[in-house]
Amino acid sequence: KAASPFIAMVALANAAMADEPKDADPLKFDANAFTKKSLKLGDDEVAYRAVEGIVYVAKPVDPAYQQLNFYVPEAYFEDQAIGDFTKDTAPIFFPNQVGGYMPGKPGTPDQSGRPPGPSGDAASPNPIAVALSKGYVVAAPGARGRTLKDQNGNFTGKAPAAIVDLKAAVRYLHHNDAEMPGDATKIISNGTSAGGALSALLGATGDNSDYEPYLKEIGAAEESDIVFAASCYCPITNLDHADAAYEWLFHGINSYNQRGKSGELTAPQIEVSEKLKSQFPAYLNNLGLTKADGTALTLDENGEGNFKDVVKAYVAASAQKAASHGEDLSKYPWLTLKDGKVTDLDFNAYITFANRMKTPPAFDALDLSAPENDLFGTATVDHQHFTEFSKDTGENHAMAEPAVIKMMNPMNYIGADGTATAHFWRIRHGTMDRDTSLAIPVMLAAKLLNNGNEADFSMPWNQGHAGDYDLDELFAWMARISK
Ligand code: DHB
Repeated sequence: KAASPFIAMVALANAAMADEPKDADPLKFDANAFTKKSLKLGDDEVAYRAVEGIVYVAKPVDPAYQQLNFYVPEAYFEDQAIGDFTKDTAPIFFPNQVGGYMPGKPGTPDQSGRPPGPSGDAASPNPIAVALSKGYVVAAPGARGRTLKDQNGNFTGKAPAAIVDLKAAVRYLHHNDAEMPGDATKIISNGTSAGGALSALLGATGDNSDYEPYLKEIGAAEESDIVFAASCYCPITNLDHADAAYEWLFHGINSYNQRGKSGELTAPQIEVSEKLKSQFPAYLNNLGLTKADGTALTLDENGEGNFKDVVKAYVAASAQKAASHGEDLSKYPWLTLKDGKVTDLDFNAYITFANRMKTPPAFDALDLSAPENDLFGTATVDHQHFTEFSKDTGENHAMAEPAVIKMMNPMNYIGADGTATAHFWRIRHGTMDRDTSLAIPVMLAAKLLNNGNEADFSMPWNQGHAGDYDLDELFAWMARISK
């Protein structure tokens, strides 16, 4: 008896589905998509292959930002090794381009590198190009940021969107580790400023479930989001305590100079400074941080104590390194030098010399005008507070959800249950960088060291707010941890 037309149709449909599996993976990497390219790095030609514009989530909100560029040294397609690395073992350099918590498009190796700094510091080449020349595979992620809107005018990049996106990009690399050159268990994140803060969050929060609902919503791969290492230049992080930390450092400095705009603090601002400064010791003492020998790091109610000595010691070590490299430090009267050795540093005079950049509160502005207020908005509210102090002191009392504030601070996750914090860290914050308090990176490094992580932290001498200025040292660290 002949089959009914209906049954024949079902059979046909089944046959078609066998050809095209009904669960075709939208996050599968296409290994045929590579394009051959090359670039000039100094006198050298660097040959590589690229797949650009890979949307790394199945349900993108803004595919122009939720995408990554992927670059592989040409040698790996010819079964050659570069140093100790092969196509399968090469670590994956993962530099984000976020600045100011703004949206960040994925980086490319042919963008110009860092131009010479205003104070005569050297230009440096493009870090992606350098990474390729040294045998690293590069995945350069884009991420949403605070100003993005959809067609309906709703904001799409408020916190925690940027860290959720970077995690989704990491998950994509894990998801396709077998097909993609490079080793997804060796992802080395890199970023500067807000991007440094996001790098710190990536390093701190591996596989923590707080981010899971957000990752599900955008169709991120169901994979691990652990990274191997985090490089963080001047991370603008720990935002919910950054105002107090700023005034702990700069209270008493009543003039400011912010990228050409300078002025004097008003009497109410000086009062705010006093109040914020007085909050800092309780926060610091509560962290329970210790020195290497187990001594508790503390501050008294005036903000004095061995934590301050540790901050000062990092600055003194920076000056010592500069002196050892032959730099003339005699023009800094706040340094005491004896036979080329830095024997003392007048901390208050140094802070006066560095000068305050921001007015109090430095991050959670009372009038909601800071970039960070914008970061902590929602789909429909442009800016909100994220500290009790500014919420209570300002006129508009809109406050971000505590769960969102928590998710933007790596200090909450280092060593936390159910969290795989990266073992290797490199943190840099210049001695002339006033975008956040020196206390912020010192606390981050101490928390990591206390947790048993390897944190290579120092304050480059006379360095302002910038990143990627010491690529020789960055890549030496990367080579060392990758062994
Ligand atoms: C950046 C700088 C800041 O001073 C700040 O508050 C936030 C971000 C930046 O350069 O990314």
